[in-house]
Amino acid sequence: MPLRPLLTEEQIQKRILEMGAQIAADYPDGTLYLICILKGACYFLADLSRAITRDVRIDFMGISTYGSGKTTSGEVKITKDLDISLQDVHVLIVEDLIDSGVTLGYLMSLMQQRQPKSIRSTTLLEKPEHRLSNVKVDYVGFRIPDEFVVGYGLDYAEKYRNLRGIYILEGE
Ligand code: IMP
Ligand code: MG
Repeated sequence: MPLRPLLTEEQIQKRILEMGAQIAADYPDGTLYLICILKGACYFLADLSRAITRDVRIDFMGISTYGSGKTTSGEVKITKDLDISLQDVHVLIVEDLIDSGVTLGYLMSLMQQRQPKSIRSTTLLEKPEHRLSNVKVDYVGFRIPDEFVVGYGLDYAEKYRNLRGIYILEGE
């Protein structure tokens, strides 16, 4: 299937540096945990965590929402829970892409129950067109059109995650 370039490696890296500076400036003292939502956000976590010039810690939560193709299964399943307790720490959920917002809404309420000091979210990409949940995203990298995208962590049936840029997957 053909790939059409949407965002270059340079554009992504430049934007992540800006986001990191903003996040570092916004947070008060206290432990800040970046919670990476696997698998798609792993590259974004790696670059964003190094762009935040303050002490940060990382942990991972595995979920699955989509089937093996382009359609969502509509339900969120936890495949790996966090290793740490969120009690009394600042939590920043790190996502690759927000589409309907259902996944993020679910994760926010799940983590809220664990009594963090604060909870915010960041996503590299946002498709604003069919938001179903009214969940608010605090830091957005890029707003993109309603097209299926791959690369920089995002997959189509587990393929294309390791591309350095982000591409629109055409065809089908
Ligand atoms: P939401 O619950 O509809 O916001 O689902 C967002 C999740 O679906 C993202 O974290 C991605 O894993 C996946 N997703 C949505 N759109 C795309 C896409 O264009 N490419 C790859 N994955 C996508
Ligand atoms: Mg995801």
